[in-house]
Amino acid sequence: MEFNADRLREARHVVVFTGAGVSAESGIPTFRDALTGLWERFDPAELATADAFRRDPALVWGWYEWRRRKALQAQPNPAHRAIAELARWVPKLTLVTQNVDDLHERAGSRDVLHLHGSLSAPRCFACARPYRQALPVPDVPEVGARIEPPRCPHCNGKIRPGVVWFGEALPEKALREAFAAARDCDLLLSVGTSGVVQPAAQIPLIAQENGATVLHINPQPVLLGGERVFGLVGKAGEILPDLLRRAFGR
Ligand code: NAD
Ligand code: APR
Repeated sequence: MEFNADRLREARHVVVFTGAGVSAESGIPTFRDALTGLWERFDPAELATADAFRRDPALVWGWYEWRRRKALQAQPNPAHRAIAELARWVPKLTLVTQNVDDLHERAGSRDVLHLHGSLSAPRCFACARPYRQALPVPDVPEVGARIEPPRCPHCNGKIRPGVVWFGEALPEKALREAFAAARDCDLLLSVGTSGVVQPAAQIPLIAQENGATVLHINPQPVLLGGERVFGLVGKAGEILPDLLRRAFGR
Protein backbone atom coordinates (compact mmCIF):
# COMPACT_ATOMS: atom_id res chain seq x y z
CA MET A 1 0.00 0.00 0.00
CA GLU A 2 1.34 3.44 -0.95
CA PHE A 3 2.12 6.02 1.78
CA ASN A 4 -0.66 8.64 1.77
CA ALA A 5 0.71 12.19 2.19
CA ASP A 6 -2.45 13.07 4.16
CA ARG A 7 -0.82 11.26 7.10
CA LEU A 8 1.84 13.98 7.13
CA ARG A 9 -0.72 16.80 7.06
CA GLU A 10 -2.85 15.18 9.76
CA ALA A 11 0.03 14.19 12.07
CA ARG A 12 0.03 15.59 15.61
CA HIS A 13 3.69 14.86 16.38
CA VAL A 14 6.23 13.95 13.68
CA VAL A 15 9.65 12.52 14.53
CA VAL A 16 12.24 12.87 11.76
CA PHE A 17 15.13 10.43 12.32
CA THR A 18 18.10 11.04 10.02
CA GLY A 19 21.36 9.32 9.16
CA ALA A 20 24.31 10.03 6.89
CA GLY A 21 22.11 9.66 3.78
CA VAL A 22 20.35 12.97 4.43
CA SER A 23 23.72 14.73 3.92
CA ALA A 24 24.79 12.60 0.94
CA GLU A 25 23.41 15.12 -1.61
CA SER A 26 25.48 17.82 0.11
CA GLY A 27 28.56 15.86 -0.92
CA ILE A 28 29.31 14.37 2.50
CA PRO A 29 30.17 10.66 2.21
CA THR A 30 28.00 8.15 4.06
CA PHE A 31 29.45 5.23 5.99
CA ARG A 32 28.08 2.09 4.40
CA ASP A 33 27.17 2.88 0.84
CA ALA A 34 28.90 0.40 -1.45
CA LEU A 35 32.26 1.71 -2.75
CA THR A 36 31.83 5.28 -1.45
CA GLY A 37 31.01 4.56 2.21
CA LEU A 38 33.62 5.71 4.72
CA TRP A 39 33.68 2.31 6.38
CA GLU A 40 34.43 0.75 3.02
CA ARG A 41 37.50 3.00 2.70
CA PHE A 42 38.65 3.26 6.28
CA ASP A 43 38.67 0.95 9.26
CA PRO A 44 36.50 2.43 12.02
CA ALA A 45 38.62 0.59 14.58
CA GLU A 46 41.56 2.77 13.46
CA LEU A 47 39.61 6.03 13.49
CA ALA A 48 36.34 5.92 15.41
CA THR A 49 37.29 4.53 18.83
CA ALA A 50 38.89 5.96 21.99
CA ASP A 51 41.69 3.38 21.70
CA ALA A 52 42.48 4.64 18.19
CA PHE A 53 42.79 8.17 19.60
CA ARG A 54 45.10 6.96 22.39
CA ARG A 55 47.24 5.10 19.83
CA ASP A 56 47.52 7.90 17.28
CA PRO A 57 45.80 11.17 18.27
CA ALA A 58 47.15 13.09 15.26
CA LEU A 59 45.72 10.53 12.79
CA VAL A 60 42.29 10.53 14.43
CA TRP A 61 42.19 14.32 14.93
CA GLY A 62 43.36 14.80 11.31
CA TRP A 63 40.60 12.51 9.99
CA TYR A 64 37.89 14.34 11.91
CA GLU A 65 39.33 17.70 10.83
CA TRP A 66 39.00 16.46 7.24
CA ARG A 67 35.35 15.58 7.94
CA ARG A 68 34.66 18.84 9.84
CA ARG A 69 36.14 21.06 7.14
CA LYS A 70 34.35 19.11 4.38
CA ALA A 71 31.09 19.65 6.29
CA LEU A 72 31.88 23.38 6.61
CA GLN A 73 32.35 23.58 2.83
CA ALA A 74 29.09 21.68 2.21
CA GLN A 75 25.70 23.35 1.92
CA PRO A 76 22.36 22.10 3.28
CA ASN A 77 20.48 20.27 0.53
CA PRO A 78 16.71 20.23 -0.28
CA ALA A 79 16.21 17.40 2.22
CA HIS A 80 17.60 19.46 5.13
CA ARG A 81 15.54 22.43 3.99
CA ALA A 82 12.33 20.40 3.64
CA ILE A 83 12.76 19.07 7.20
CA ALA A 84 13.26 22.61 8.53
CA GLU A 85 10.16 23.72 6.55
CA LEU A 86 8.08 20.78 7.82
CA ALA A 87 8.55 22.01 11.42
CA ARG A 88 6.47 25.06 10.41
CA TRP A 89 3.57 22.98 9.10
CA VAL A 90 2.98 20.34 11.77
CA PRO A 91 1.94 20.97 15.39
CA LYS A 92 5.06 19.29 16.77
CA LEU A 93 8.26 18.00 15.16
CA THR A 94 11.22 16.34 16.89
CA LEU A 95 14.38 16.03 14.79
CA VAL A 96 16.75 13.24 15.87
CA THR A 97 19.99 12.79 13.95
CA GLN A 98 22.90 10.37 13.98
CA ASN A 99 24.91 12.89 11.98
CA VAL A 100 27.69 14.97 13.43
CA ASP A 101 27.55 17.71 10.79
CA ASP A 102 25.57 20.93 11.38
CA LEU A 103 23.64 20.97 8.09
CA HIS A 104 20.26 20.57 9.81
CA GLU A 105 20.98 23.66 11.90
CA ARG A 106 22.27 25.60 8.89
CA ALA A 107 19.02 24.73 7.06
CA GLY A 108 17.06 26.32 9.91
CA SER A 109 16.17 23.34 12.13
CA ARG A 110 16.21 24.03 15.88
CA ASP A 111 16.71 21.85 18.96
CA VAL A 112 18.27 19.04 16.91
CA LEU A 113 18.94 15.94 19.00
CA HIS A 114 22.45 14.74 18.03
CA LEU A 115 22.68 11.11 19.20
CA HIS A 116 26.29 10.74 18.02
CA GLY A 117 27.60 14.13 19.06
CA SER A 118 28.83 16.93 16.83
CA LEU A 119 31.96 17.90 14.94
CA SER A 120 31.50 21.42 16.32
CA ALA A 121 31.74 20.36 19.99
CA PRO A 122 35.36 19.26 20.62
CA ARG A 123 36.36 18.55 24.20
CA CYS A 124 39.38 17.59 26.24
CA PHE A 125 40.14 13.84 26.12
CA ALA A 126 41.55 14.03 29.67
CA CYS A 127 39.31 16.40 31.65
CA ALA A 128 36.27 16.40 29.28
CA ARG A 129 35.92 20.19 29.46
CA PRO A 130 34.48 21.67 26.23
CA TYR A 131 37.17 23.22 24.02
CA ARG A 132 35.95 26.71 23.20
CA GLN A 133 38.85 28.11 21.19
CA ALA A 134 38.10 28.68 17.52
CA LEU A 135 39.22 25.79 15.33
CA PRO A 136 41.08 26.72 12.14
CA VAL A 137 39.13 26.63 8.89
CA PRO A 138 41.86 26.42 6.28
CA ASP A 139 41.57 24.21 3.21
CA VAL A 140 40.33 20.70 3.69
CA PRO A 141 43.42 18.62 4.49
CA GLU A 142 44.29 15.50 2.51
CA VAL A 143 42.23 12.68 3.96
CA GLY A 144 44.51 10.74 6.30
CA ALA A 145 46.72 13.79 7.02
CA ARG A 146 48.04 13.79 10.57
CA ILE A 147 47.15 16.97 12.48
CA GLU A 148 48.30 17.38 16.06
CA PRO A 149 45.21 18.01 18.21
CA PRO A 150 45.11 21.29 20.16
CA ARG A 151 45.79 21.21 23.91
CA CYS A 152 43.30 21.87 26.68
CA PRO A 153 43.92 25.31 28.28
CA HIS A 154 42.93 23.85 31.67
CA CYS A 155 44.92 20.62 31.92
CA ASN A 156 47.01 20.53 28.73
CA GLY A 157 45.27 17.29 27.72
CA LYS A 158 44.69 16.50 24.03
CA ILE A 159 41.48 17.80 22.45
CA ARG A 160 39.24 15.12 20.88
CA PRO A 161 36.30 15.40 18.45
CA GLY A 162 32.93 15.75 20.21
CA VAL A 163 31.54 12.70 18.41
CA VAL A 164 30.44 9.38 19.91
CA TRP A 165 32.87 6.62 18.97
CA PHE A 166 32.15 2.91 18.62
CA GLY A 167 31.55 1.42 22.00
CA GLU A 168 31.00 4.79 23.71
CA ALA A 169 27.76 5.68 25.44
CA LEU A 170 25.47 8.06 23.64
CA PRO A 171 24.60 11.42 25.26
CA GLU A 172 22.02 10.37 27.84
CA LYS A 173 19.71 13.40 27.61
CA ALA A 174 19.52 13.33 23.81
CA LEU A 175 18.85 9.59 23.79
CA ARG A 176 16.18 9.88 26.51
CA GLU A 177 14.41 12.68 24.65
CA ALA A 178 14.65 10.77 21.37
CA PHE A 179 13.13 7.62 22.88
CA ALA A 180 10.35 9.70 24.51
CA ALA A 181 9.54 11.39 21.19
CA ALA A 182 9.49 8.01 19.42
CA ARG A 183 6.99 6.72 21.99
CA ASP A 184 4.77 9.82 21.66
CA CYS A 185 4.79 10.49 17.92
CA ASP A 186 2.11 9.36 15.46
CA LEU A 187 4.41 9.53 12.43
CA LEU A 188 8.14 8.83 12.15
CA LEU A 189 10.13 9.59 8.99
CA SER A 190 13.38 7.57 8.89
CA VAL A 191 15.61 9.35 6.36
CA GLY A 192 18.93 8.10 5.01
CA THR A 193 20.02 5.57 7.58
CA SER A 194 21.07 1.94 7.22
CA GLY A 195 19.73 1.27 10.70
CA VAL A 196 22.63 -0.95 11.75
CA VAL A 197 24.10 0.96 14.68
CA GLN A 198 22.61 0.46 18.12
CA PRO A 199 21.04 1.95 20.16
CA ALA A 200 19.99 4.61 17.59
CA ALA A 201 18.48 1.93 15.35
CA GLN A 202 15.83 1.24 18.02
CA ILE A 203 14.07 4.55 17.41
CA PRO A 204 11.88 3.63 14.41
CA LEU A 205 10.99 0.33 16.13
CA ILE A 206 9.92 2.13 19.32
CA ALA A 207 7.68 4.43 17.29
CA GLN A 208 6.13 1.48 15.47
CA GLU A 209 5.59 -0.45 18.72
CA ASN A 210 3.76 2.59 20.13
CA GLY A 211 1.31 2.77 17.24
CA ALA A 212 3.03 5.30 14.98
CA THR A 213 3.21 5.09 11.21
CA VAL A 214 6.80 4.76 9.99
CA LEU A 215 8.04 5.91 6.58
CA HIS A 216 11.54 4.98 5.40
CA ILE A 217 13.14 7.23 2.75
CA ASN A 218 16.20 5.64 1.19
CA PRO A 219 17.51 4.81 -2.33
CA GLN A 220 18.02 1.28 -1.02
CA PRO A 221 14.68 -0.45 -0.42
CA VAL A 222 14.27 -1.02 3.33
CA LEU A 223 12.82 -4.33 4.58
CA LEU A 224 9.36 -3.35 5.79
CA GLY A 225 7.62 -5.20 8.61
CA GLY A 226 4.14 -4.27 9.84
CA GLU A 227 1.02 -2.73 8.35
CA ARG A 228 1.92 0.82 9.36
CA VAL A 229 5.46 0.73 7.89
CA PHE A 230 6.02 2.22 4.45
CA GLY A 231 8.99 2.93 2.21
CA LEU A 232 9.69 5.50 -0.49
CA VAL A 233 12.68 4.45 -2.58
CA GLY A 234 14.80 7.36 -3.74
CA LYS A 235 16.89 10.32 -2.69
CA ALA A 236 15.82 12.33 0.33
CA GLY A 237 16.56 15.58 -1.52
CA GLU A 238 13.90 14.67 -4.09
CA ILE A 239 11.37 12.73 -2.03
CA LEU A 240 10.99 15.11 0.94
CA PRO A 241 10.20 18.30 -1.06
CA ASP A 242 7.71 16.29 -3.14
CA LEU A 243 6.11 14.86 0.02
CA LEU A 244 5.63 18.38 1.43
CA ARG A 245 4.11 19.56 -1.88
CA ARG A 246 1.67 16.64 -1.86
CA ALA A 247 0.76 17.13 1.80
CA PHE A 248 0.59 20.93 2.03
CA GLY A 249 0.30 22.02 -1.57
CA ARG A 250 3.48 24.10 -1.31
P1 NAD B 1 28.13 -1.44 16.00
O1 NAD B 1 26.83 -2.22 16.09
O2 NAD B 1 29.41 -2.15 16.23
O3 NAD B 1 28.03 -0.19 16.92
C1 NAD B 1 27.46 -0.46 18.12
C2 NAD B 1 28.22 0.38 19.05
O4 NAD B 1 28.34 1.65 18.40
C3 NAD B 1 27.42 0.58 20.30
O5 NAD B 1 28.27 0.46 21.42
C4 NAD B 1 26.92 2.01 20.12
O6 NAD B 1 26.77 2.61 21.35
C5 NAD B 1 28.10 2.60 19.39
N1 NAD B 1 27.89 3.84 18.76
C6 NAD B 1 27.28 4.80 19.30
N2 NAD B 1 27.44 5.90 18.59
C7 NAD B 1 28.17 5.57 17.55
C8 NAD B 1 28.71 6.27 16.48
N3 NAD B 1 28.62 7.59 16.37
N4 NAD B 1 29.40 5.65 15.57
C9 NAD B 1 29.56 4.38 15.69
N5 NAD B 1 29.07 3.63 16.68
C10 NAD B 1 28.42 4.26 17.62
O7 NAD B 1 28.13 -0.70 14.64
P2 NAD B 1 28.37 -1.43 13.39
O8 NAD B 1 27.78 -0.62 12.34
O9 NAD B 1 27.96 -2.87 13.49
O10 NAD B 1 30.00 -1.35 13.36
C11 NAD B 1 30.56 -2.08 12.50
C12 NAD B 1 30.36 -1.34 11.19
O11 NAD B 1 31.53 -0.74 10.79
C13 NAD B 1 29.85 -2.30 10.15
O12 NAD B 1 28.78 -1.69 9.47
C14 NAD B 1 31.03 -2.49 9.22
O13 NAD B 1 30.63 -2.33 7.84
C15 NAD B 1 31.92 -1.34 9.57
N6 NAD B 1 33.31 -1.81 9.68
C16 NAD B 1 34.06 -1.65 8.59
C17 NAD B 1 35.37 -2.06 8.65
C18 NAD B 1 36.26 -1.85 7.46
O14 NAD B 1 37.46 -2.02 7.59
N7 NAD B 1 35.67 -1.43 6.33
C19 NAD B 1 35.90 -2.68 9.81
C20 NAD B 1 35.03 -2.84 10.91
C21 NAD B 1 33.72 -2.39 10.85
N1 APR C 1 18.92 10.01 0.37
C1 APR C 1 18.50 9.13 1.34
N2 APR C 1 19.26 8.09 1.78
C2 APR C 1 20.46 7.94 1.20
C3 APR C 1 20.98 8.80 0.20
C4 APR C 1 20.13 9.88 -0.21
N3 APR C 1 20.51 10.74 -1.16
N4 APR C 1 22.21 8.35 -0.16
C5 APR C 1 22.47 7.25 0.59
N5 APR C 1 21.42 6.99 1.39
C6 APR C 1 21.24 5.90 2.36
C7 APR C 1 22.04 4.66 2.07
O1 APR C 1 21.29 3.79 1.23
C8 APR C 1 22.19 4.07 3.48
O2 APR C 1 21.11 3.21 3.78
O3 APR C 1 21.73 6.40 3.57
C9 APR C 1 22.11 5.30 4.38
C10 APR C 1 23.43 5.63 5.04
O4 APR C 1 23.70 4.61 5.96
P1 APR C 1 25.10 4.66 6.74
O5 APR C 1 26.18 5.04 5.80
O6 APR C 1 25.19 3.39 7.51
O7 APR C 1 24.94 5.88 7.74
P2 APR C 1 24.14 5.87 9.11
O8 APR C 1 22.94 4.98 9.04
O9 APR C 1 23.93 7.29 9.47
O10 APR C 1 25.22 5.23 10.13
C11 APR C 1 24.85 5.25 11.51
O11 APR C 1 27.10 4.55 12.08
O12 APR C 1 29.41 4.58 12.03
C12 APR C 1 28.27 5.14 12.58
O13 APR C 1 28.59 7.27 13.47
C13 APR C 1 28.19 6.61 12.33
O14 APR C 1 26.19 7.84 12.89
C14 APR C 1 26.71 6.84 12.03
C15 APR C 1 26.08 5.51 12.32
